[in-house]
Amino acid sequence: MSRELLEKLETIEDLPTMPQTAKKVLDILNRPDFSFAELVSVISKDMNITASILRLANSALYSPRNEIQNLTQALSFLGANNIKNLVVALSTKVLFENFKASLLIHKVWEHSVAVAIYARIVSLKINKKVSEETFLMGMLHDIGVIIMNLYIENYEIMISEIYGSNESLYKKEKELFALTHSEVGAKLAEIWKLPEIYKDTILHHHDYTKSAHKDYCILIDYADNVISRKGINVSNYYDENKIKEIEKFLNIDEETAQEIESIFEEVYNSEKEIFALK
Ligand SMILES: [Fe+2]
Ligand SMILES: [Fe+2]
Repeated sequence: MSRELLEKLETIEDLPTMPQTAKKVLDILNRPDFSFAELVSVISKDMNITASILRLANSALYSPRNEIQNLTQALSFLGANNIKNLVVALSTKVLFENFKASLLIHKVWEHSVAVAIYARIVSLKINKKVSEETFLMGMLHDIGVIIMNLYIENYEIMISEIYGSNESLYKKEKELFALTHSEVGAKLAEIWKLPEIYKDTILHHHDYTKSAHKDYCILIDYADNVISRKGINVSNYYDENKIKEIEKFLNIDEETAQEIESIFEEVYNSEKEIFALK
């Protein structure tokens, strides 16, 4: 099964579902009359997510003026949209934990966390307008890899062959399966009923120029390449020309790049344990 996976995906019974807490939060937010108290009550039942939100809310990713001590404070400081994105992003961890044994899954998770943090920091520096969505987009951009690995025969063999090499996973998928993790991830976003903007960004994260939401997608494409250049990815492939091109386009000069880099190192190293797989 390769290309036909796209059509079949919807009918696969054991397809990973959106984790519970995330689902409940999305349901609440989809109602026009939702209350903060309701939101707090649902999230606070998940102690891991609550603790992680508080840690992240107090980190350089959000830089509050005063320490945020509880969910109600976090919600009023960050707003419902940021909280929703954090809850969904943090809940995806459960999906990865279900396949914890695999080295591949660990690498993809580590990569997704790093891309999410990087994209968020870049957006705060360059384009605050889009910053609320970028963290979750980064977290989900490669989710298709997990799905392909579950349902496509020989996928894991392919991964182990390019692991640590300079070969592009995306190109290899096209060659061998005529299907990419971008397409599969976008389909999953659709099945999970995530907003269209997520589907689009996941679909085009290897070529932001095709995206209908370039402002967002360019940040994910950029963060993806920079993080891969750091070696935090399955293969070490990255596109230096694209990095340069995007930096020029977004006016990221050397000084800004350095600043982004140092905030990333700070957040990534100090908050890493939140994201450690069990
Ligand atoms: Fe990717
Ligand atoms: Fe990626």
